[in-house]
Order: sequence, then C-alpha cells, then structure tokens
Amino acid sequence: MEITMTDDPFGVREGEVAVELPKDFDAGVYFIGRIRTPWVRRDQCPKNARESDDVCTIEIDARYVAALQSVETCSHLLVLYWMDKARRDLVLQAPRHTSAQRGTFALRSPVRPNPIAASVVRLIKVEGTRLSVVGLDCLDGTPLLDIKPYFASTDAVPDATVGWRADDKR
Ligand SMILES: C[S@@+](CC[C@H](N)C(=O)[O-])C[C@H]1O[C@@H](n2cnc3c(N)ncnc32)[C@H](O)[C@@H]1O
Repeated sequence: MEITMTDDPFGVREGEVAVELPKDFDAGVYFIGRIRTPWVRRDQCPKNARESDDVCTIEIDARYVAALQSVETCSHLLVLYWMDKARRDLVLQAPRHTSAQRGTFALRSPVRPNPIAASVVRLIKVEGTRLSVVGLDCLDGTPLLDIKPYFASTDAVPDATVGWRADDKR
C-alpha cells in the first residue's frame, strides 16, 4: 500500500490509503442512459441528494423506453448511477469536511471500488424517454445504471443512525 500526495483533485489526500486494484473484472454493466444536471465541476455539485432543489433530467436510451411503463405512478424513485470521474482504489479516505480518516464502506463518497451512487429522487414528470426529478448530486453526463421504485413502507428506516456523524465537525 502506498500513499501519494498529488495536486490532482481526484488524487490522494494526507491520511488516505490506496490499494492496487484487481487485474480482472467480475461483471459488466450496461449504461442505460445519462443524467443531465446543471453541474459541470465537482465543487458545483450538491454534496448529497437533499442539498439542492434543482430539477435534473434523466435521459434513458430509447431501447429501454418500454421499461418506463408505470414509472409515472411513482412519487419517488431510487436512482443508481456510475460516478465515472471517481478514482476506485482508496480504502481509507479523509473527507474535506472533517479531519477524521474513515473507511470507504463507511462513507457515501463516490470514490470506491465500484463507483455506484444511489439517491432517492422526487419524480416530477415523465416525457417519453426523459424523467424530470429533484434530488440528484452528480455531474452533467453521469452514466445511469438503474431506476427502481422507492417503497417508503420497506425502504425507509427512520431510526437508522451513523455513529461517526456525532464526531463530524461540519
Ligand atoms: C458524496 S457523493 C453522493 C452520491 C450519492 N448520493 C450516494 O450517496 O451514493 C456526491 C458527490 O460526488 C461527486 N461527483 C458527482 N458526480 C460525479 C462523477 N460523475 N464522478 C465522480 N464524482 C462525482 C461530487 O463531488 C458530488 O458532490
């Protein structure tokens, strides 16, 4: 394991640890569309899905249009997307807003072995292959992996906690 300091905004910060990634992939994914947002630089993006009320557009490839049947009946959707600009080799990270070092799997950082992001969005409208939604936090052009209905009855866990938030200075 090696720590490298760099000026690259996607580089390694002090206290972060990178590992060598495997040579082979175990699976492939299909990008099923792209997400259109107002943000072209990472520092413009909301830090999480509740930080902005901006309307974003999910553009699905035309071949999947039939898969949108009944989606318009959903008030909220779970959107999975691929953080294509994120490095994938960090196991320990030092988020900017805190001095603490944390494990990748304890963070919602886009930097992870498989840079899959998840957000619950509010659906505003569906027009053909375009979905207007509120609640995304990604760069314009981010690849789309999947869309699922959000079921408050089974997905919401109102008393869930993340212990390290108590130490977070932000
Ligand atoms: C903290 S992540 C949270 C993503 C998602 N809501 C989740 O919880 O999995 C959001 C941040 O990822 C970064 N980001 C957005 N789009 C990206 C992309 N395509 N590639 C790499 N990083 C991206 C931005 O800095 C943004 O503020």
